[in-house]
Amino acid sequence: MMLVRLMYASRAVPSIDQDELHAILRQSKLNNPGRGITGLLCYSGGIFIQALEGGRSAVSQLYNRITTDPRHTDVVLLSYEEIGERRFAGWSMGQVNMARLNPALLLKYSATATLDPYSVSGKVSLALFDELVATASVMC
Ligand SMILES: Cc1cc2nc3c(=O)[nH]c(=O)nc-3n(C[C@H](O)[C@H](O)[C@H](O)COP(=O)(O)O)c2cc1C
Repeated sequence: MMLVRLMYASRAVPSIDQDELHAILRQSKLNNPGRGITGLLCYSGGIFIQALEGGRSAVSQLYNRITTDPRHTDVVLLSYEEIGERRFAGWSMGQVNMARLNPALLLKYSATATLDPYSVSGKVSLALFDELVATASVMC
């Protein structure tokens, strides 16, 4: 089976609150295992970044569905690649713990210590996710 990794950014609608964020994560953790999807979801300052890994059809179907979700807008595809192995295999949908996000990590890859996937390359956002995993900033 062909494995792929896809990453996108989006802007949460202004009304999104902690409850809705939890609902999205709950829904993802419920649905993803059955579809062979793993990944990470990061939410900070009204911006989502999500990485989805899995079979090509499963990832494509889920991404198409997510792009029509009214809880966010401005969905931009940051990165798509065929992969030999998963990076986020341990998470049906891991949540990036922003409280543990080191500002120095953001500065490493961008001009300011704010998360702005719209102004950096997809490679940079992916590198940031890798470091978050390496520094144990991901919650189950
Ligand atoms: C930022 C964001 C990320 C999401 N990630 C996932 C996901 O990883 N898996 C998933 O099944 N649904 C995800 N959703 C929800 C889907 O858009 C959709 O509401 C859901 O898959 C429908 O599930 P249901 O058939 O159980 O109602 C996400 C939604 C948003 C706004």
